[in-house]
Amino acid sequence: MGGDVPRGGTGGSDGSPPRAAGGSPPRAAAGSPPRAAGGSPPRAAAGSPPRAGRRFGEEGGLLTYGAYLRLPELLSQQVPQADPPAHDELLFITVHQAYELWFKQLLHEIEAARDAMSGGELWRAQHLLHRVQVIERLLVEQVEVLETMTPQDFLEFRSSLAPASGFQSAQFRELEFLSGAKDPNFLARFRGLTEAERLRLKRRLAEPGLWDAYVALLAERGLGVDGDDQILRSLVAVARDRVRYGDLWRLAEDLISHDEIAALWRARHVQMVERQIGTKSGTGGSTGAPYLRERVPLRYYPLLWELRARL
Ligand code: HEM
Repeated sequence: MGGDVPRGGTGGSDGSPPRAAGGSPPRAAAGSPPRAAGGSPPRAAAGSPPRAGRRFGEEGGLLTYGAYLRLPELLSQQVPQADPPAHDELLFITVHQAYELWFKQLLHEIEAARDAMSGGELWRAQHLLHRVQVIERLLVEQVEVLETMTPQDFLEFRSSLAPASGFQSAQFRELEFLSGAKDPNFLARFRGLTEAERLRLKRRLAEPGLWDAYVALLAERGLGVDGDDQILRSLVAVARDRVRYGDLWRLAEDLISHDEIAALWRARHVQMVERQIGTKSGTGGSTGAPYLRERVPLRYYPLLWELRARL
């Protein structure tokens, strides 16, 4: 955790030394106030006397690092199933949970990017889509962590997780829907979806996605959006006149980057799957790698790809 510290009693303004955001606090000689990173001691608020007898990290007590981040709850959620225990199952669970946390963050950012587009704040949409891309690249890289597991070690616990599968990740599907790939068939194919997840997915299918927001922007600028052919002609017009449509062009580039990295993840995931289970079928009941290979060519914004051939 870096940067922002939680508000409310994190030190400094009341004369108490600032608390580090995480981990162990810097050591200070007994009695001497700790120095801020820049070397100068923390400023005391005018009028408030320095508190005697307290050591760094002891003040407040209202909000701690662990309480703010709900670490007791978070760290008790990795529950391996295998019996006898399998060493790599913790890695498998941790990696998947880390993905789900990032999926949550991506939904937060993409939703905000869509709303920024709809509100005419194109700079903000771009700013958020840039963050989306950085996180998505991390998710592609993260596949490597799980690849340190050998197929033999995976087999020690694979049967204990069936019929669970990444296919049932509601957040992953929400991301696809929100990005523009709305396929209602997935709702019918989901097994074990909770009612809350079903409602969320239905909402994602019904609400405008990133592409809808972008097309609305084209229309606002007087460009035709009546059907794919007209949209494509509008995209060509945007690409050819970057003086006039520079903001729309940059957004289109951000969208295609998002699309491209999502496709990279699908390709990387199936490669890992083949390395782990070869031609075996999936725990979720699909054909496994063949099913996943079929999904690799999926594109959120086919018109942006087609545009290249028209320039
Ligand atoms: C040993 C590692 C992994 C194996 C062997 C594996 C295997 C599979 C297989 C075979 C499928 C097809 C559905 C099925 O029948 O189960 C699938 C789908 C999926 N997996 Fe994985 N997976 C692994 C790791 C991961 C990780 C780390 C994630 C991260 C969230 C993930 C997310 C997904 C998602 C989202 C799908 C659905 C893809 C789609 O429908 O396009 N998988 N996985």
